[in-house]
This record gives sequence, structure tokens and C-alpha cells, in this order.
Amino acid sequence: MSRLSAADITARKRDGATALPIVVLTAYTAPMAHLLDAHTDIILVGDSLGMVLYGMENTRSVSLDMMIAHASAVVRGSKKSLVLVDMPFGTYEESPEQALRNARRLLDESGADALKLEGDAQLAPTVALLVQNNIPVMGHVGLLPQQVTSADGFKTQGKTDETAARILQDALALQEAGAFSVLMEAVTEPLARHITAQLRVPTIGIGASPACDGQVLVTDDMLGLSAGYIPRFVKRYGALASQVDDAVKHYAQEVRSRAFPSAEYCYPYTKPTL
Ligand code: KIV
Repeated sequence: MSRLSAADITARKRDGATALPIVVLTAYTAPMAHLLDAHTDIILVGDSLGMVLYGMENTRSVSLDMMIAHASAVVRGSKKSLVLVDMPFGTYEESPEQALRNARRLLDESGADALKLEGDAQLAPTVALLVQNNIPVMGHVGLLPQQVTSADGFKTQGKTDETAARILQDALALQEAGAFSVLMEAVTEPLARHITAQLRVPTIGIGASPACDGQVLVTDDMLGLSAGYIPRFVKRYGALASQVDDAVKHYAQEVRSRAFPSAEYCYPYTKPTL
């Protein structure tokens, strides 16, 4: 089975009203990638892993080496979804050449398929250089988590005519630079609908309404595994944290009462022949 490519994802937009929305979820490990792969089109190795897995306060301390390690695991755990990886903060903003050097490392060492870069229209020359070097890029506009250093920075974007026009210009500039898709985070429905109608490439929304061509959520959030702040746009499809709590409580009780391990979980007794 071959993986979906960036061109396959872009082609979904051309199918117009008959196109199936693009399904995207995050994974940071091989087992989770394996579980998602049958149902997703894209698995995103997001730099949200800094907060979700490592308990960091924001995503700004995530390193290229961390992204390479987790992206490699996700590639090993999946077969059919496109594996998309975030370029972490500090690895692409200095110059297009810095971005190309780190992008090559990230893809060559992990075996992933495409990269996502957060940024506005100023990032267009960087995206253009990566695309000219056969590196598929997804843009990320609207709310840019790498610029947010505390929970109260997660705010709806594009609420005034001026900021809405700027986000549209950002998305158009990244498309013209060659991005195969543009992710929009935390924007209102009318703006998401307008941008989606203006772009030739698919839009992927997170907190950006059903008007987008696809949707992404952080898997730990939608499974009900995350603790702490959960944005309003997250629908909980599971309650795994309470299932883990129940299971661990039960295990602890049985260890303390010596009910575990019972005979079925022990090796059968054989008398040593001395
Ligand atoms: O890092 C991430 O998981 C992301 C999503 C929030 C889209 O970029």
C-alpha cells in the first residue's frame, strides 16, 4: 500500500463539492500512528508534542532532534497516511537557507513526507525555496502557537476587517509560493469560508468551522487524554483519562491485596530436577 502524497491531498480540492473532507490527526509515537492510520489521510507530528508529551509550557523549546525522533516513530508506525511534520520554532525563521538546511535534515533523517511551517506572507520566499527543492509544504496561518507563550494567548483571529484581510493575504501568498495546502487555526466561520473559496489548494481547519476542506485535532485532546486547558473547538470523542484512572486504580488495589498476579498470570510450576 502506498502513502498519500501532497499532490493527492491537493487534488482533493479539484473534486469540488464531491470531495471528501481531509481527515488529519496528530501522532507522536508508532503505536498511536498505527491506530490512526486506517482512518486518517494525514498524520501530523505536531510540535504540540512539547506540551502534550513533554509537559512544556509552550512549543518554543521543541528541538529539531525531538521532531526527527518522533517523526521517525510515526513513519515506522504507519503505512498509508501522509506523514506531515512541524518545523519547530527557531529552525526556519532566520533565512530561507537555514530553513532548507533544517528541512532536508528533518525529512532525510525521519523519512516523513511533508513539512508544516507557521507564519504569514513574509514566509513566502522560504516556502518557495523549499518547494523548488521538492519539499512539500503546508502553510499554517491565523493563530500561530509558536508565537503564544501563555494559555491566554490562544485567541480567535481575524475578527476585524483589517486582520481578516491580512490572514487572507497570508494564505494566498503561501499558496502562490507553492504550499500544497494551508492550515487555518482559530478563525471565524465567515473568514474560513471566504479563504477556502479563494484558494486552489485545500484548507485544513482547527477551530476554523466546517467550511474548511479538512479538519485536524490534537489526538490526545479528542480522546480525552489531555489534562489542563482544552480549547472550545475540541470535541471529546473519548474519555480515555478516566479509563486509565479506573484501570490503574484497579491494578493498585489488586497488587496491594495480592489478588494480582493470580495463577493464570504465572509460569506453571515445574519441579527442578537436581
Ligand atoms: O502542533 C500541532 O499539533 C499543530 C496543530 C495544533 C494543528 O500544529
